[in-house]
Amino acid sequence: MRRRHRTNRMARVDLWPRLLGVECLAVGPHAAPRTAVIWAVLREELARIGRPVVAVDVGGGTGGFAVPLARDGHVVTVVDASPDALAALTRRAADAGVADRIEAVQGDVDDLVRLLPPDSADLVLCHSLLEVVDDPADAVAALAACLRRGGVASVVVANRVAAVLARAVAGQLRMAADLVCRGVDEPQGAAGPAPGLDRLGRRFDASSARRLLDDAGFEVEAVHGVRVVADLVPGAIAEAEQEQLLAFELAASAISPYREIATQLHLLARRR
Ligand SMILES: C[S@@+](CC[C@H](N)C(=O)[O-])C[C@H]1O[C@@H](n2cnc3c(N)ncnc32)[C@H](O)[C@@H]1O
Repeated sequence: MRRRHRTNRMARVDLWPRLLGVECLAVGPHAAPRTAVIWAVLREELARIGRPVVAVDVGGGTGGFAVPLARDGHVVTVVDASPDALAALTRRAADAGVADRIEAVQGDVDDLVRLLPPDSADLVLCHSLLEVVDDPADAVAALAACLRRGGVASVVVANRVAAVLARAVAGQLRMAADLVCRGVDEPQGAAGPAPGLDRLGRRFDASSARRLLDDAGFEVEAVHGVRVVADLVPGAIAEAEQEQLLAFELAASAISPYREIATQLHLLARRR
């Protein structure tokens, strides 16, 4: 009962009327239609916590999320397998004047338990990583292990539905039809095999991503669609109408069926 209440409350969150017009959304990463939905959900959670948090960004790359978080006063450890990405992150953090609030750690998500103190983080980001790891279930278990109880994971995964539609629209109709039929035949197998074994790579849908997190001890509180149309709108229009595109993305992100066709799915999940 408690779970349903929370899920409904968050799923109905109407992001744009409260967030559009807020000064912090006017510029910077929070205003980019490609990431605004993720930022809106994160900022709501951070406001709820109401203090600087200890965050971990696994597969955080060059710091697209870590640096703005550190600018807002949070302390962020970025764990990433790529030394090049971490070098770029370190430069970016120094340029932004937040080097003292960002730690760059080279390592694999599977080593998180060895690299970081257990049960310590308030927030773990895992954006666009589960598609490429050896085993998503192990990766999600590692996220849970470094979070304190009640801490939250922000997880972004590629949406299988959007990937199939993109192939169809690009004219790869036979492949798209094949993928649609396989999705019907294997509704439980939506996470798919590791990259390289499937022409689509590993993709998720809302239910497979939810199940993955649920099995690792999380309660999924919200699922939003990220880039419902941002990748489909012609570039010139996206540039000229950025504010309207942002409004559309924020408005559509929590509403079915728009959420289900977004390029990515964002899940906010609390460690039980
Ligand atoms: C697609 S990028 C995403 C970057 C960032 N999270 C974002 O959303 O912009 C994936 C990142 O994960 C890192 N990565 C890939 N496999 C990893 C693994 N097994 N453990 C940790 N990091 C990994 C890559 O080096 C890369 O920086």
